[in-house]
Amino acid sequence: MADLSTRFLGISSPNPFWLASAPPTDKEYNVQRAFEAGWGGVVWKTLGEGDPVVNVNGPRYGAIHGPDRRLLGFNNIELITDRALDLNLEEIARVKRNWPDRAMIVSLMVPCEEKSWQQILAVVEETGADGVELNFGCPHGMSERGMGSAVGQVPEYIEMVARWCKEHSRLPVIVKLTPNITDIRYPARAARAGGADAVSLINTISSIVSIDLDNFAPTPTIDGKGSHGGYCGPAVKPIALNMVAEIARDVATRGMPISGIGGITTWRDAAEYIALGCGTVQVCTAAMTYGFKIVQEMISGLSDWMDEKGYATIEDFRGRAVPNVTDWQYLNLNYVTKARIDQDKCISCGRCHIVCEDTSHQAITSRVDGIRRFEVIDAECVGCNLCVSVCPVEDCITMEAIAGIDPRTGKPIEPAYANWTMHPNNPMAKLAAE
Ligand SMILES: Cc1cc2nc3c(=O)[nH]c(=O)nc-3n(C[C@H](O)[C@H](O)[C@H](O)COP(=O)(O)O)c2cc1C
Ligand code: SF4
Ligand code: SF4
Repeated sequence: MADLSTRFLGISSPNPFWLASAPPTDKEYNVQRAFEAGWGGVVWKTLGEGDPVVNVNGPRYGAIHGPDRRLLGFNNIELITDRALDLNLEEIARVKRNWPDRAMIVSLMVPCEEKSWQQILAVVEETGADGVELNFGCPHGMSERGMGSAVGQVPEYIEMVARWCKEHSRLPVIVKLTPNITDIRYPARAARAGGADAVSLINTISSIVSIDLDNFAPTPTIDGKGSHGGYCGPAVKPIALNMVAEIARDVATRGMPISGIGGITTWRDAAEYIALGCGTVQVCTAAMTYGFKIVQEMISGLSDWMDEKGYATIEDFRGRAVPNVTDWQYLNLNYVTKARIDQDKCISCGRCHIVCEDTSHQAITSRVDGIRRFEVIDAECVGCNLCVSVCPVEDCITMEAIAGIDPRTGKPIEPAYANWTMHPNNPMAKLAAE
């Protein structure tokens, strides 16, 4: 059976599945239940300094559902922990003592002053925790007070605080990044320059999930008003994967340990993050939607898949997708595909025809010899994949690579790889050739 254990920054956990800093990790009772269910580690809900923060007392969550009421996106206007610092520290120490084999990371957010960081790091270290995660990500509430994403959006601040933390603590430092930024490579580079041991991403995305059309106010609505919150859940996974890939392949941050976060709901999601180089993954919304026992399916699913593929350890496939992430200009323009419809699977719904006819390349019939039938016209098909995306039957339409003459252009398909940098229509390629 596959060995799922991980060592991330020297911190061991029996599996790569950690709970992200959020309500599931806000107190001993929850974390105890999480460890009983099998989670490999937790990032404790973010601690702050001084009097505890005050949360709203009305609804703090919002959601986007699919037609089957399955939760696709989740939004919150919650702040960091609203429990007393001493109580949190006492519980962290006890849980770590009781569960020595699980990873215990403590998330922190204090004002951008060296003394504040020095003080909180000292008390966290006394709990026996394995590491700290700097929360430079919350996009609401704390950012207006100069913390959270207000720090994460300024690479110089990230570098400065990371450096303080490395100076004032012996614990490994993970910098948690905000996705509310144009280019994620800059904050990641800053974290590395400041000496951080790892980055984790993503925190939540600034969002308004919906407007209540009776009250004309954003949801969740607090006494007639709403404010932006942080978006997470399955809907954010593609954004997070791209940001992880950017950091994994950037020359300045390549090889830096990453803990992947964002929309992880199944073992497959986790495997994708690991394939992009992540050493551990963190989960929040899936646990808040389905409960802690969801980790058992993640563990068995990942283990079965690894056995099937012959991967004995996580390291055997970690990072395997990174070399295959490239820029558009390096994609092979001589790779030509055509859609193929499996007539035995087709239920004749006509969706492929209508989208191709209205919005793509008029390459799917609706009738053949007077009979309702959906066939691809190779001479028109550009291989765009739209029909595959909308067909309600899985694997009914597939894309096939072809060789020889392309019926659409009437020209031979060159077997050799050629990309935009070499293409005759590229003015820069022309200049280079001259
Ligand atoms: C209700 C809620 C509260 C959160 N609180 C925190 C927090 O205190 N500190 C933090 O770093 N991230 C916080 N997050 C962000 C999560 O840790 C995580 O980065 C984000 O939800 C993306 O993961 P997911 O798609 O698995 O939910 C919170 C998320 C939610 C939904
Ligand atoms: S791949 Fe694109 S162009 Fe070809 S049949 Fe499908 S939708 Fe039409
Ligand atoms: S969308 Fe799929 S099932 Fe519907 S007609 Fe096209 S191929 Fe058949």
